[in-house]
Amino acid sequence: MEKILVIDDEPQILKMVAKYLGAEGYDVLTAKNGKEGLDVFQKQRPPLVITDVKMPVISGLEVLKAVKAIDSATEVIIVTGEADMETSIEALRLGASDFITKPIEIELLYVSILRALDRQKMQEQLSEYAKNLEGLLEKKIKEIEYSQVMLLQSEKLASIGQLAGGVAHEINNPIGFISSNLNTLSKYLEDIQKLMARYQEVHLLNDGERTALLREIKSVENEIDIEYILDDLDQLIEESKEGIDRVKKIVSDLKDFSRVDHGEKEFFNINAGLENTLNMVWNELKYKTDVLKEYGTIPEIECYPLELNQVFTNILVNAAQAIEEKGEIKISTRLINDDQSAKDCVEIRISDTGCGIPEENLSRIFDPFFTTKEIGKGTGLGLNISFGIIKKHEGTINVKSKVGKGTTFIISLPCCTSRH
Ligand SMILES: Nc1ncnc2c1ncn2[C@@H]1O[C@H](COP(=O)(O)OP(=O)(O)OP(=O)(O)O)[C@@H](O)[C@H]1O
Ligand SMILES: [Mg+2]
Repeated sequence: MEKILVIDDEPQILKMVAKYLGAEGYDVLTAKNGKEGLDVFQKQRPPLVITDVKMPVISGLEVLKAVKAIDSATEVIIVTGEADMETSIEALRLGASDFITKPIEIELLYVSILRALDRQKMQEQLSEYAKNLEGLLEKKIKEIEYSQVMLLQSEKLASIGQLAGGVAHEINNPIGFISSNLNTLSKYLEDIQKLMARYQEVHLLNDGERTALLREIKSVENEIDIEYILDDLDQLIEESKEGIDRVKKIVSDLKDFSRVDHGEKEFFNINAGLENTLNMVWNELKYKTDVLKEYGTIPEIECYPLELNQVFTNILVNAAQAIEEKGEIKISTRLINDDQSAKDCVEIRISDTGCGIPEENLSRIFDPFFTTKEIGKGTGLGLNISFGIIKKHEGTINVKSKVGKGTTFIISLPCCTSRH
């Protein structure tokens, strides 16, 4: 049974209202002044209060304010004197659901009660929906965050795959010619062994036989072309050594490149990082681009090297992809004093003579998933991730571009914590 609290200092009114509402099936609580009314309200918490305005000690408006302060969801209907429009307006302003004037027309009061209770139910339902919606939204946000992490992971995996492909290619080349050189060398060795065996016979023979054998040896020498073999031996060995050095370098670059950052910053030379990255992405660049390097004298800066290498990789790969057939990539570093922060910064510029970025896209290239590349080629995360990394280093990354001319990325990293 729904509770309704009626507060009025006129006992007849209390009686009349209580009787009527009781007959309508409500549990009616009554109080004959504001103070008593508030006591009952505190104890019983009825969802609806009907209060007279003019009462001694605590007025109806005070009751309204107090009830709303305790529980703002409680509906309050105010009963005012006939001509007291001002009080009625004030009551509505303070959150009353309705007002009715004296003398009370009980039917009118009843309609007002039904409306107030309906409104309350609707409000409850609404807040229930809102709560559900919040929960749902939270779940969705979690799902999106999760899939974003998964995407980053797969992006990482994809770039590792791409890198591995490039590295395999780079290693395959020298391995190929080293292996072919070894084949030739083993053939040469067979010939030389054959010759050596004949030479060893020389000691066992007398003079006459020896002359004949030496003649024979001469003919074997001609047959196997010993002059050429001796000459070629040196070259094959030299070339193979160079090949091994190349593989060694790739492996050591790879080791540096993929060194795991343990979440700790370390002092790192940006020039070395660029050089290292360049070696790693060389496979993507070498057919299309000449690379110009202008490394300045810069201090080591405290940073996350692996993450910065990731930024350089993405910018260099983007640059290569922007070049259609043949172009140039220029990499330069220098120490500058940043105008805005007045801090010493290492500035890295990477320019290409590629297709350029249309004006309308310039503000979007750092957005996640913005890509102009065909499906499967670009995820549009590269620059977004790069932006995040540079921000983490409290640096800036800017871009200048002209369609048809090329693009320059300018990164500035503060070196306030640098070791000089
Ligand atoms: N050097 C550049 N020249 C021309 N356009 C560029 C250059 N660098 C970036 N862009 C443009 O910015 C877009 C976003 O680059 P971003 O590196 O974020 O993603 P992506 O290269 O498309 O894909 P992903 O790097 O994830 O493989 C590119 O699709 C391209 O349109
Ligand atoms: Mg990219």
